Amino acid sequence: TKPLVFVPHRIAESALALLRERCEVDYRDIEEKLDDASFAAGLQRADGLMIYSRHKINASVLEKAPRLRVVSNIAVGYDNLDLPALTARGILATNTPDVLTETTADLTFALLMAAARRVPEADRFVKNGQWNEWLPSLMLGKDVHGATIGIVGMGRIGEAVARRAKGFDMNILYFNRSRKPEAEKALGVQFTSLDDLLSRSDYVVVMTPLTPETEGLIGERELALMKSDAILINTSRGCVVDEQALIRSLTERRIGGAGLDVFQMEPTPKDNPLLSLPHVVTLPHIGSATRETREKMALKAARNMLAGLFGERPENLLNPS
Ligand code: GLV
Ligand code: GLV
Repeated sequence: TKPLVFVPHRIAESALALLRERCEVDYRDIEEKLDDASFAAGLQRADGLMIYSRHKINASVLEKAPRLRVVSNIAVGYDNLDLPALTARGILATNTPDVLTETTADLTFALLMAAARRVPEADRFVKNGQWNEWLPSLMLGKDVHGATIGIVGMGRIGEAVARRAKGFDMNILYFNRSRKPEAEKALGVQFTSLDDLLSRSDYVVVMTPLTPETEGLIGERELALMKSDAILINTSRGCVVDEQALIRSLTERRIGGAGLDVFQMEPTPKDNPLLSLPHVVTLPHIGSATRETREKMALKAARNMLAGLFGERPENLLNPS
């Protein structure tokens, strides 16, 4: 009998077809997150589970998954997966790196430029009928070209952001757990301490995965090191930045602004003070959200699933142990 893969939401047709070649698929053609009871019922019978990071998988969820052998995350970040709990049960976990690198770097740069030149604020201004006169100091922003960008976390996406920054003639600093000599040579990026990066950058771009080591990495002390007109960009995970400290720093105008695609809690509560600050650009976690890339992510996740279920080593295995 074929293994059963539970896909509790819509995925690209091509990825679904790939799964159906070799598996039974319990497929829910919905965009919304499935309710807990239906999710638990699906999990009960599943050999494989394919999810977006809005589903948290921990030991108590796994108790409801007696047959589960593979969890295929349709995301590069996997902070939603309790890897030790999965490994303890001998369940393979996979993610979808590489295919979303350039797409996420594009969005990161879009957010940086939108915050620097106040694009969403200016758009609202025109559409709200407030544009009565052209004024010399209307919507003055901050230059991107020639400015200093500090990339915190020089992984695949960090490097892709650095390539874009190079095209804008930016001075590029980076901080990473380990030095990247090849990136330094290829991109002309300069390794610094985190403190040095924070105090020298006009744009601080947070690109680290969320792990116990990076949780709250950018807190009160770190924000205080930033220049008073510097802009913080976060397209990684909300919890890498201490959101309360960021709100204080922005409200008191101790930094210049922020561009945020991710939040401590998602969706972020509608009364989050960040949403009413004009110098903050907010996006609903859409870093990898292009038609092309979402299809590539689903296909990669499907291939990882099939490899795991049929005894091959998935290309993007997260817990080889
Ligand atoms: C999206 O946030 C991802 O991790 O792929
Ligand atoms: C601005 O539009 C200019 O002509 O300088």
